[in-house]
Amino acid sequence: MASTIREGRSVIVVGSGLAGLAAASAALRSNAKAVVLLERAVKPGGNSIKASSGINGAPTRFQSQPPLDTTFFSDTVKSAGKRIPSSAPEQTRRKGLIKVLTDKSSSAIDFLADDIGVDLSVIAQLGGHSVARTHRGAGKTPPGADIVTRLLKKLQNDKRFQLRTGCEVTKLISTTESSGPGARPKVVGVKVRSGDEITSLAGPVVFATGGFAGDTDGLLAKFRPDLAGIPSTNEPRPGMHNLLTEIGARLVDMDSVQIHPTGFVDPLSQDSHLKFLAAEMLRGEGGILLYNGKRFVNELGTREQVSHAIMQLNPNLGPLKQWKVQILLDPGACTAAGSHVAFYEWKGLLSRKKVSELDETTRDTVKNYSLAVAKHIPDVFGRSAFGHWTLAGGQEDNEKEVCVGWVTPVTHFTMGGVVINEKGQVLASSLEADDEVVIPGLWAAGEITGGIHGDNRLGGSSLLECVVFGRIAGEQAASQLTDDG
Ligand SMILES: Cc1cc2nc3c(=O)[nH]c(=O)nc-3n(C[C@H](O)[C@H](O)[C@H](O)COP(=O)(O)OP(=O)(O)OC[C@H]3O[C@@H](n4cnc5c(N)ncnc54)[C@H](O)[C@@H]3O)c2cc1C
Ligand SMILES: *[C@@H]1O[C@H](CO)[C@@H](O)[C@H](O)[C@H]1NC(C)=O
Repeated sequence: MASTIREGRSVIVVGSGLAGLAAASAALRSNAKAVVLLERAVKPGGNSIKASSGINGAPTRFQSQPPLDTTFFSDTVKSAGKRIPSSAPEQTRRKGLIKVLTDKSSSAIDFLADDIGVDLSVIAQLGGHSVARTHRGAGKTPPGADIVTRLLKKLQNDKRFQLRTGCEVTKLISTTESSGPGARPKVVGVKVRSGDEITSLAGPVVFATGGFAGDTDGLLAKFRPDLAGIPSTNEPRPGMHNLLTEIGARLVDMDSVQIHPTGFVDPLSQDSHLKFLAAEMLRGEGGILLYNGKRFVNELGTREQVSHAIMQLNPNLGPLKQWKVQILLDPGACTAAGSHVAFYEWKGLLSRKKVSELDETTRDTVKNYSLAVAKHIPDVFGRSAFGHWTLAGGQEDNEKEVCVGWVTPVTHFTMGGVVINEKGQVLASSLEADDEVVIPGLWAAGEITGGIHGDNRLGGSSLLECVVFGRIAGEQAASQLTDDG
C-alpha cells in the first residue's frame, strides 16, 4: 500500500538507455548509498545502443579550433522553430532547457571521454548544424554501443549499483504530503513486475523510459493517427508516458515526430516493423530514389521534403503502411559509400545488378540522369550535387554494376514528452503556465521528456540530452536521498 511504504534508501532509475545510465552514474557520484536500475527488456541499452552518428558537444577539444563554436544554442533554437513562442513564460522555459543542453554539452563530452574512456575524436557536421560538432570514435564500434557498454561496465564495478533486467515498472507510488487545496502527490517509489511477481520499491525516481516512435498502435496512433502503421527504426515497445500523466505530469509537443525518409525494407522480412536505417550518406554520395523506375524528388532535400514526396505516392497497403521506393547507387556512389555498402550487402539490404539487368524504365531513367549529370544539364528536381556518380549514359554503362535496395519512410524520434524544468523535475504544470508546479520525488530525462527540440531534433542532440539531463536528474535524486536520510 502506498501509505505504508518506507522511505527509500536507493535511487530508483527506470530504463537502461543512455539517460538512465547517465542518471545512475551521477547518483553514485553524488554519494547515493544505492542505485537500482530497472529495465523491462532482457538486455539493457534501449534504443541508445543503436545510435550511429554520434553525440553533439560545443565547444570541445576534439573540434578543430579556433574559431570557438558558439552557434550550438542558436542552431538548436532555429531547429525548434515555431514551437518556441514569441512570448514569456513559455519562450523563457524552452530556451532555458536548450541553454542547459548546449551549455553543458562540452562537460558531457569530457565526462564520456575522460571518466568513461569513450573515444569521441572524430567529428562530423550533420544537417542543421552550422559547424561540425557531432562526436564519434575512430574505431568500428558505433557511438551508441560504445558509450552504453562502457558506461554500464563502469557502473557494474560499483557495489552500490544494481541492474535488474526483465523488470517492468507498472506504476508510480505516491502519497499526498498535505491535505486541502493545492495538495500535491509526492512520488515515493514504484511498482515493479517481474514475471508474475509484483513488488514495490521505495525511493526517489528518475524516469528514463525513452520515446514512443516504436509504439505504432498505441501512443503514436493516438497523437499522430496519420503515422499509424508506419514502420520505425525504434524497437517496437509501448510508450510509458501514461504512468507519469496518471499522477499529474503534463505532456508537450506530442504531435512532433521525426520521420526519416529512408528505412530499408528487408526483402526477406518485408513486414518487419523494425527497419534498419539507410544512412543519409547513401544519397549524399550519389544515390537516387525511384518510384516505378522513375525519379520523383531532389534526393538531397531536407528529411521533411524527401519524406513528404514519398508519402504523396501510393502506399503499399499490407500489415504496415510502406512505400515501394528503390534506392540506386551507381558504381561511383557504391565505391564512395564503400564501408556502409558492404555492411548493407552483408545484411541483404542492398544488392548488386548490372545496368543491363534493370527493367526498361529504370534503365532509361539511369541513362537520362547520367547524361544530364555528365553534361551539367540542370536537374528537373533541382538536385545540384551528384556525389560520386560516374556513369555517363553511354553504351559501356550496361556492363557496370549498380547497388539497389528498397526503402520506405520510418518514424525515428519523438520530440514530445513530459514537461520538465531545468533540474529535470517532472512538472504538473504546462510550459505556458505562470507558476511552475513540481511533482516532488520524480525526475525524467532522455526521449521521454519534451520541450527541448520543438519542431525538430538536431542529429546528435538526443544522446546529448540523455547525458546532460540524465546526470542532472541523477544528482538531484541522490540529494533527496541524503536530505531524507
Ligand atoms: C537507429 C537509431 C539511430 C540513432 N542515432 C542517433 C545518433 O547518432 N545520435 C543521437 O543523438 N541520437 C540518435 N538516435 C536517437 C537516440 O538513440 C535516442 O533518442 C536515445 O538513445 C533515447 O535514449 P533514452 O535513454 O531516453 O531511451 P532508450 O535508449 O530507448 O532507453 C529506454 C529504456 O527504458 C526501458 N523501459 C521502457 N519502459 C520501461 C518500464 N516501464 N520499466 C522498465 N524499463 C522500461 C526500455 O526497455 C529501454 O531499454 C538514434 C535512434 C535510433 C533508433
Ligand atoms: C528519357 O529521356 C527521353 C528523351 O528526353 C524521354 O523521352 C524519356 O521519357 C525519358 N525517360 C525517363 C524514364 O524519364
